[in-house]
Amino acid sequence: MILSVIVPTFNEGPNVAELVRRTAAALPGRDIEIIFVDDSTDDTPEIIRGVAQNAPVPVRLIHRDAPQGGLGGAVVEGIKAAASDFCVVMDGDLQHPPEVIADLLARAEMGDAEVVVASRYVDGGTSDGLANAVRTMVSRASTMLTKAMFPKKLHNCSDPMTGFFLIDRRSLDIDELRPRGFKILLEILARKQMRVAEVPFDFAPRFAGESKASFSQGMRFLTQLTMLRFGRMSAFAVVGGLGAVANLAIMWGLQTFGVQYLVAAVIASVLTIIANFIALEYLVFADMREESGLMRHRFIKSFTFNGIEAIVRIPVIWLLVNEAHIQSVLAAALTLIAAFIIRFVFHALVVYAP
Ligand code: GDD
Ligand code: MN
Repeated sequence: MILSVIVPTFNEGPNVAELVRRTAAALPGRDIEIIFVDDSTDDTPEIIRGVAQNAPVPVRLIHRDAPQGGLGGAVVEGIKAAASDFCVVMDGDLQHPPEVIADLLARAEMGDAEVVVASRYVDGGTSDGLANAVRTMVSRASTMLTKAMFPKKLHNCSDPMTGFFLIDRRSLDIDELRPRGFKILLEILARKQMRVAEVPFDFAPRFAGESKASFSQGMRFLTQLTMLRFGRMSAFAVVGGLGAVANLAIMWGLQTFGVQYLVAAVIASVLTIIANFIALEYLVFADMREESGLMRHRFIKSFTFNGIEAIVRIPVIWLLVNEAHIQSVLAAALTLIAAFIIRFVFHALVVYAP
């Protein structure tokens, strides 16, 4: 067998026959199997058994009565049960066009990649099937944040949130995975440096039924992200926090020596921006310095960013207070939180870009 196609399903009955038909047609004459890992509460298992009887390729069903780990847990079970080392993971609602499996397999057979990702965000791919503008924005923003947290491991992956990919099971420490919720590819890529290749695809609208994505899935994703990468970002936060304290201390010290307060504030800011940069160089991003060009250039980018940020924050506070009628201390706190996240993304993706 050359390929196992793993399809997690939760109440996807009306999509099953069409998915099997298109998947078999996409790989004519090739020895493949389709494994449904099903957590449904409706009649989807019966439908899968029915379709399996007349299917042109072997169709297997793993129905889980006590599902663990949601979508991600289902995928891991499918990979474990697969007959082939090459496993494609694909949604069961035809948002992932089965025809693309042929591209994934062709790319994997070139032999230089352990994971081949079907990406919406690489040239030739689209994310039009993301029902609405809000989801598109959430998807883009969370992709950026995720890439910022794992700049090295995800460097060659434009779409770590996709649910459509091929993996060579031999490259996986499958028992190390802690799948929770939807983002199983992220879980795989964040644990270990992998050789990643990509092929583009058009994320299509659903064939039938409704999405199971939800606010609580979003929260689970954020938890997953924090758990996987508590390291770099918390270090970044600690450095930033100490910098703020130092800033105030320097300002206070200068003023006690009679320096005018605005001058003191500027000197204190410049000194803390420099100290902050040094801490980033030698602590937070120490492992990324070698591959990201000249220190001088990083310093210019970092310094410019911090300067602009400090200047832009003031009118934003003014807007929040006067237009959105938010209490001033709260408004300042909100801008600090936003600035912290943007600063982290900027440093990880731009200043320390390989
Ligand atoms: N076995 C199992 N258990 N399958 C599940 C579960 C579960 O708890 N929850 C969802 N699924 C199945 C669905 O039946 C479907 O086949 C697939 O997982 C994806 O679920 P959708 O409800 O269609 O999610 P989506 O389209 O909103 O999200 C998809 O696209 C995102 C990209 O924007 C998923 O592929 C996400 O992983 C992906 O990030
Ligand atoms: Mn879907």
